Amino acid sequence: MDLVVWNEELSVGLPVIDGQHKKLIGMMNADYNALRKGEDRKQAGEVLDELSRYAAVHLTYEESLLERRGYPELESHVRQHDYYRDQILMLRERHAAGEADVGDLLKFMIGWFKAHIRDADQRYGSFLSPREKVPDTAG
Ligand SMILES: [Fe+2]
Repeated sequence: MDLVVWNEELSVGLPVIDGQHKKLIGMMNADYNALRKGEDRKQAGEVLDELSRYAAVHLTYEESLLERRGYPELESHVRQHDYYRDQILMLRERHAAGEADVGDLLKFMIGWFKAHIRDADQRYGSFLSPREKVPDTAG
């Protein structure tokens, strides 16, 4: 079972961003399934590390794109990303202290991305997509 399914309802109208979101969702589902099947927690943790790294690159890419295009809501968008970064940091600390597990981190990521894509990302999507095509450079 997949926890999040990418469909047109999640599209922000920019192929490069949709591609990154699809990749993120695919990684989240893979990790979720690995955990559900009771596969090695260490392995699930490694998948989560890779996923966190990709998520961090994706958020930075979005921010530089929005900045380059003069998006008027950039500041509040970045604030949402910062909230995500803070929560991940806190969960990682709790994980290191044995107070949170890989599933807690993954659950937070899935919930946050689902809501963020549907709301904030689609808002910049409707601002950017009619204006110009974004070059497909950061897969
Ligand atoms: Fe975003």
